[in-house]
Amino acid sequence: MTSEPKGRDHWGSGLGFVLACAGSAVGLGNLWKFPYITGEYGGGAFVLVYLICIALVGFPLLYAEMVIGKRGGKDVMGALRKLTKGSAPGRKWVTAVTGFMAVASGFLILSFYSVVAGWAIHFLIISLGLIPMDDGAAAAFGAAGSKVMSSTWHTVFMIMTALIVSAGIHKGIEVLCKILMPILVGILVLLFGYCCIKMDIGASLSFLFKPDFGKLNGEAIIEALGHAFFTLSLGMGAMLTYGSYVKHDEHVVRDGFWVALLDTLIALLAGSVIFAVVFHFGHEPSGGPGLLFMTLPDLFAQMPGGVIVASSFFLLVVFAAWSSAVSLLEVVVAYFVDEKGVPRKMATWVMAGFIWLLGMASATGIELTLFSDKPQGVLDILDNLTTRYMLPLGGLLIAIIAGWWISETDRSSGFKAFSPTRGHQISAVWTVLIRYVTPVLVLLVILAKMGVISFAPEAAEAAQ
Ligand code: PHE
Repeated sequence: MTSEPKGRDHWGSGLGFVLACAGSAVGLGNLWKFPYITGEYGGGAFVLVYLICIALVGFPLLYAEMVIGKRGGKDVMGALRKLTKGSAPGRKWVTAVTGFMAVASGFLILSFYSVVAGWAIHFLIISLGLIPMDDGAAAAFGAAGSKVMSSTWHTVFMIMTALIVSAGIHKGIEVLCKILMPILVGILVLLFGYCCIKMDIGASLSFLFKPDFGKLNGEAIIEALGHAFFTLSLGMGAMLTYGSYVKHDEHVVRDGFWVALLDTLIALLAGSVIFAVVFHFGHEPSGGPGLLFMTLPDLFAQMPGGVIVASSFFLLVVFAAWSSAVSLLEVVVAYFVDEKGVPRKMATWVMAGFIWLLGMASATGIELTLFSDKPQGVLDILDNLTTRYMLPLGGLLIAIIAGWWISETDRSSGFKAFSPTRGHQISAVWTVLIRYVTPVLVLLVILAKMGVISFAPEAAEAAQ
């Protein structure tokens, strides 16, 4: 372990690393976004495309980020620079832009992520009976979105996040994730068990797993790929930064596999629970972004034992969001610590302060006319900008850097450690994926989003 950079914090154990990465991956993306977009895009066929995206784009990129982090041993900017040292000036420039975009994405995403997490805190408090919810969940959702409430919970959530990051990797993030992840899985499994007994689990599972390809259109494919990035925390260096705190003998291939598997299983489990409740009470699965916050509390209110179920559920959402938010802040903080030599505590609180300030624009519902003719809330603008453009673009650049620009030794390092015999074969498959398949798919999606190409949505829509 002589090459360990001096004074740099690292994970206490391999399990700690896996749980921290899973903590980053499992978040609002799994519990809030996955169910509602699956509902909107019609279920099974969308889930299948999403799973294919995880395999062909998510996993290769997850490994690419982890290995760049591990070999680079620095924040996203520093690690990318180190592994592409000696490259032509053009490449250096692209590498710097990739690093800068990653840090900026962490900053922007956390600003609105914290506001949505704040809504979950609001519902947790309501379900514990500390704030009455007299007029139903829709009214409570309105209240959670009110300027005062949103700003308050956003502030609380940012403080919770900064407290963990300022405590560092081993004593802060690892400890948090080691405690939260098992609780989170436990609550989810209990809720699933409850749904199997009391709710319409059959309808839910057939909605999620019986593909109806007539419902699939171009938009759904774009959404599925974008979501694969978001849910695995890819394209902005979160996994890369976490990888940089790994000890040199850790097997990141195996670890990446566990993280992707856990994240996917938790999304499917959460989807099964939510749709089982939705179908049991005869609601529409296509409830949109409010599905989690507006449909479920009303349903919980009618259930026997609803208080316990509801508070467990929102506790789950808050915990999941918390362990993801720390990874967003860590990307930004690591940059200032590693590149600018700012002490961790100071970097954390100052950056959390700036992010909090930007988040206030989302929390107070400020509207701007930036990318469309109609005024849009800052929250939507930032969500679209980051999830639809910055993460896929960041992912594309990271795939190119990992597949083509870094050295062969760095590229295949983790595979040999993983398994000396089979490592070679897995490494060959991964190299093909990261060089050709991942970038081409991501590029197609970026072009489709820009309207340059289309996945023939008319044909699919006509079939509906
Ligand atoms: N993966 C997190 C989720 O599913 C969100 C996230 C994105 C976290 C990017 C870190 C980086 O909610």
